[in-house]
Amino acid sequence: MSPSTQTSPLQAEQDACAEAETNPELYQHFANLVSSLPSSEGLSHNQFYRHDQGWHTGLVVMVGAMVADACFTARPSDIVVATLPKSGTTWIKSLLYATVHRREHHPAAADHPLTSLGPHGCIKFFEYQIYTRNKVPDLDKLPDPRLFSTHVPSVSLPRTIATSGSKIVYVCRDPKDHLISQWDFAKKFRVMNQLEPFSVEAAAELFCRGLSPFGPYWDHVLGYWRAHRSPPDPTLFFRYEEMHKDPAAHVRRLAEFVGHPFGTGEEEDAAVDAIVRLCSFEHMSGLEVTKTGKTDLVVGAVENSSFFQRGVVGDWANHLSPETARHIDAITAAKFMRSGLPVLS
Ligand code: A3P
Repeated sequence: MSPSTQTSPLQAEQDACAEAETNPELYQHFANLVSSLPSSEGLSHNQFYRHDQGWHTGLVVMVGAMVADACFTARPSDIVVATLPKSGTTWIKSLLYATVHRREHHPAAADHPLTSLGPHGCIKFFEYQIYTRNKVPDLDKLPDPRLFSTHVPSVSLPRTIATSGSKIVYVCRDPKDHLISQWDFAKKFRVMNQLEPFSVEAAAELFCRGLSPFGPYWDHVLGYWRAHRSPPDPTLFFRYEEMHKDPAAHVRRLAEFVGHPFGTGEEEDAAVDAIVRLCSFEHMSGLEVTKTGKTDLVVGAVENSSFFQRGVVGDWANHLSPETARHIDAITAAKFMRSGLPVLS
């Protein structure tokens, strides 16, 4: 493909969002609905609402998820990244984009879209970036394969995703690291909004009560785990900790799952390694787009650097008391019992 056509899917998406029709009545309808739901303080700076299907988040984001459910028409060729926040979304978006588009954009190319737009510019969230500010973009214009992402639990995915057979790529992370990463991230928003940051113990308490973004954590993970275990639902289930151990094996599995498998041989191995390098924490966090860029989310413009904190496994041990860690592990063991989902320790 020529460079001019290489950027066209991203350009087409940008155009669709820029030229989107608006439907303030629909947004207002859902805003009224969300406002009537039970609400409480949550593990962030804003009030959390409890969706009828049992999960929590702030008002504008929940409205975006509802508009996506009402307006999005899925295709079998769509690939949707689904994650809890702070579970490796940024990483899996990079790996997916680089893998799917490796023929148009060589992973070692200096002008790779990931290096100029960043992962959240290449694969956008339904509820934070696409269905926001009264917009209802015409996504039918976009060429295959369309790549999207979301944080909503599987029970609240736009309903045409399940009926169309779109592919889902899910990443789950140890709940304790997910909590610490979320606590750290939320701290910035709380300070920005002149709110006192939560102590780690207060954050853990909210987390255990399910009051974390898109939580309860356990319901979210189990929902996608069950989808993964019940064919024909095409759901790939990765764990952040295992991706750390062997990123190349995960790139190969990802490629196979999305229908672009790597062959064998040195050249293919080199391509896998180049994707792993391109998407590595070290490489991505050093890019100019990460150091100085921002991502426009419905909740505000977020510094790209805040999506790259430490990127390690087991950081929870530096923050949580052994007692709190044991408490979270006990909840996890009880919730995951008989699910077939192994508890990492
Ligand atoms: P920490 O806060 O533990 O450092 P998300 O992308 O879902 O918001 O998750 C953010 C977490 O993933 C952060 O964890 C961040 O540092 C880590 N992360 C971001 N990019 C990564 C990458 N390329 N490799 C490994 N971890 C990454």
